[in-house]
Amino acid sequence: MNVLLIGNGAREHALAEAVVRSRYQPGLYAFMKSNNPGIAGLCKGYELGSYGDLEAICTRARAWSVDFAVIGPEDPLDRGVVDALKEAGIPAVGPTRSLSRLETSKSFTRDLVKKYGIPGNPRFQNFTSAAGIEPFLDTLEGIVLKPDGLTGGKGVMVQGDHFGNKAEALALCEEILREHPSLTIEEKMEGEEFSLQCISDGRTVIVTPPVQDHKRRFVGDKGPNTGGMGSYSDRNHLLPFLKVEDVAEGLAITRRVAEAIFRETGEPYKGILYGGFMATRNGVKLLEYNARFGDPEAMNVLPLLKTDFIDLCRAVIDGTLDRLCVEFERKATVCKYIVPRGYGLPKDHPDAASTSARIEVGDVGRARLYYSSVDKKADGLYMTSSRAIGVVGIAETLAEAEKIAEDAVSAVSGPVSHRPDIGTADLIETRVEHMKRIRS
Ligand code: GLY
Repeated sequence: MNVLLIGNGAREHALAEAVVRSRYQPGLYAFMKSNNPGIAGLCKGYELGSYGDLEAICTRARAWSVDFAVIGPEDPLDRGVVDALKEAGIPAVGPTRSLSRLETSKSFTRDLVKKYGIPGNPRFQNFTSAAGIEPFLDTLEGIVLKPDGLTGGKGVMVQGDHFGNKAEALALCEEILREHPSLTIEEKMEGEEFSLQCISDGRTVIVTPPVQDHKRRFVGDKGPNTGGMGSYSDRNHLLPFLKVEDVAEGLAITRRVAEAIFRETGEPYKGILYGGFMATRNGVKLLEYNARFGDPEAMNVLPLLKTDFIDLCRAVIDGTLDRLCVEFERKATVCKYIVPRGYGLPKDHPDAASTSARIEVGDVGRARLYYSSVDKKADGLYMTSSRAIGVVGIAETLAEAEKIAEDAVSAVSGPVSHRPDIGTADLIETRVEHMKRIRS
């Protein structure tokens, strides 16, 4: 059996590891944007190219005689890679372009959830022009702005974080509408966020352990939003601030969304449905869907997967997920991203040059190491502007997992930084207290 993996980040490194761990001993082939040495080291063959070059992807897939493809990031999904592979006779774990609108179009998802009477939407309205924006803003206590289209996880703007008042919100709306076809304006909710990555074959939807990501660049949730600086999951497959019912609600919403998108489009959703949820005073609310595993969240759940990943992929493709028992180890995980010191900072910052610097990787001890935005060149390993390496501690307790990940960070030398607070008891306690206040 041969499997094609598309993508070159740490999420895809974790996917590659899950593929080669299979008892079927599949041959792994990868199509990557840059040379991720972790993925390359697990592959029988790989090609470097653009995710927009669907012809090159299909040509390589045929030459490698792959049985199916696993799509890591959102960019190739949005470019229609699953549709192109399907035409070439190659099935994929990942939605078609039309179905991946659940991620690429916030307005599509909000409308779908509303149309099918699914709970979880906040108060919202979609706009394609400035007409009507001001009166709607006047009705909201707090404002969130979401441009349509892919924004690398950095497009959402929240009152209090990115702008102060309604006048500023209005100016931002006009700016967004110049660059994006539409804009969703929502009421700001208060609560704790969690990621619920579900797997769908179009009929059956199963859940993976919930994870909490940390978007902010600096310790104490300060600084600009990033793609995610690290994440944790707990051994009981809950999070310390969540109730069992919260996860059940998130899963129930996702099941209804999978059913709704099938009724809407006639196409079964085969792939990952990763819901970004918020536990609030009024139950679980949907923030957004992603049509892929989270990054870093994939590094929390994939290493815990006890079920053979190839069996899981085949069940998604064949629509037989109801017949597979999908299990995850009961362990705590903490992932910390090592990033260039200048990551997320303005281009004129003194650390800006660090984003393309060379790094050395030593012994990470008991941690798992997943390469992300790096490029292996003849003279060494270079960072490529974004998050460079994810290190993951897996243990019986969160404290132990955090220590394993934190110890591993020092194995990477170069102009790098990370968030030492992720997964610590102190930071987690602030989440628990926050949620207690909200629920009371
Ligand atoms: N962890 C955020 C994302 O994958 O979009």
